[in-house]
Amino acid sequence: MRDTGRRAALLAALMSVLACGPSNGEARTEAQAGAPGIGDTDFPTDGNGGYDVAHYALKLGYTPASKQLDGEATIRATATMPLSRFNLDLKGLTVSGIWVDGAAATFTRAGDELTVVPARPLSRGVPFTARVAYSGVPEPVRDSTNLGTYGFVPTPDGAFVACEPNGAKTWFPGNDHPADKAAFDFEITVPEGVTALANGEMRGEPRTTGGRTTFRWRETHPMTTYLATATIGKFRLKKGTTAGGIPNLAAVDPKFDGTLDKFHKVSGEITDYWSTVFGRYPFGSTGGVVDDFSAGYALENQTKPIYGGFEPDDGIIAHELAHQWFGNSLSIKRWKDLWLNEGFATYAEWLWSEHKGGRTADQIFAAYHARPATDPIWAYPPGRARPADLFNESVYSRGGMTLHALREAVGDRTFFTLLKTWAAEHRYGSVTTEQFVALAERLSGKQLDPLFDAWLFQPRRPA
Ligand code: TRP
Ligand code: ZN
Repeated sequence: MRDTGRRAALLAALMSVLACGPSNGEARTEAQAGAPGIGDTDFPTDGNGGYDVAHYALKLGYTPASKQLDGEATIRATATMPLSRFNLDLKGLTVSGIWVDGAAATFTRAGDELTVVPARPLSRGVPFTARVAYSGVPEPVRDSTNLGTYGFVPTPDGAFVACEPNGAKTWFPGNDHPADKAAFDFEITVPEGVTALANGEMRGEPRTTGGRTTFRWRETHPMTTYLATATIGKFRLKKGTTAGGIPNLAAVDPKFDGTLDKFHKVSGEITDYWSTVFGRYPFGSTGGVVDDFSAGYALENQTKPIYGGFEPDDGIIAHELAHQWFGNSLSIKRWKDLWLNEGFATYAEWLWSEHKGGRTADQIFAAYHARPATDPIWAYPPGRARPADLFNESVYSRGGMTLHALREAVGDRTFFTLLKTWAAEHRYGSVTTEQFVALAERLSGKQLDPLFDAWLFQPRRPA
């Protein structure tokens, strides 16, 4: 589900007509190879060009003891240009076969790029289905800067699956970049006694035959690949509905048994509170997962944020649930705009603190602003997240400070209207910083370039 590309393809076709190409028109429609990247120059091989995914159906079998994953991914997509071949992102694992519209395709692999050559070229604008059969032991991504280990991470009782920014390729082939959102269906088979948790809502009851249980989950709302999860292990579950009527499912590793009730209740309360501040909750259910893998971090997996190895406090729950609006419903087109996710979720923590009678957003802002001019957050402009240091603290805290400075400049009334309007106008869409600045200027009637420039783009402490 992506809106770029088609226009470029049309333009290219038009140019070739104008450039007096062959009169039979064949050259114009000659199928070409899809690009190995979606066009994010900071991550040149993430995602792919030439098609737009609408739906992933992931049929997975996983055995924790051997770490063996058996997968079948069925990808429904539309070609955005005539394609002789196209790429999928996949790291490791063995591909045993690929079929495009039912016909066997040939394929090659180079690094994390899987190139698929369909039996017949694909026409622009025409939907197609690619089915990929694969298996092996998933290898998570190990990042030496600030991310640690992410992707499909095997644990003693299953797997911890948290994939931002580009770890979805460690467990399924796809267009692994947030600019291409799609709906997902999951069918996950695990040994009896083990639970598989994925995004969206469970379909029917789990079914057990021959000592293995199959769980089916469906996320109908558009989702980026990095928010997809298939977290597997021994879990205690608590189901319910928030006071505001949103289905709420919490799951904790048995090690966190005593925290389940509170985790479930607080996740529900915060979801309802954000619905009053940011507007209607965008998805079909809320909740979260606490696993025993000591990641030391959390990720805002759609409908089911995951907390790695600790009992989350209300501040981090407020952060991950705010991402359901900012990051998940509205997602970024390019990683450089990451402050639109992390600055907003950080500011939400401050709003939650203020709401609960703790430190006010203004006090938290003042404490950060008081940091000396030599503090590293002032050298790193958060409006331009760097690929080698994407999750720098500045993207979070100086991103949050940017929103507070904006609130001061436009007043509470306009600021909170802006948050709701932003979430509503771009619900389920893809956004950029320029769009946010334009909306802030439109709603406030103020020229805000100097403010955003100082807070987002200058390598120094704003006055
Ligand atoms: N987005 C996460 C947060 O703000 C942090 C994060 C980035 C992360 N990459 C990750 C967490 C990979 C887990 C795995 O909380
Ligand atoms: Zn975050």
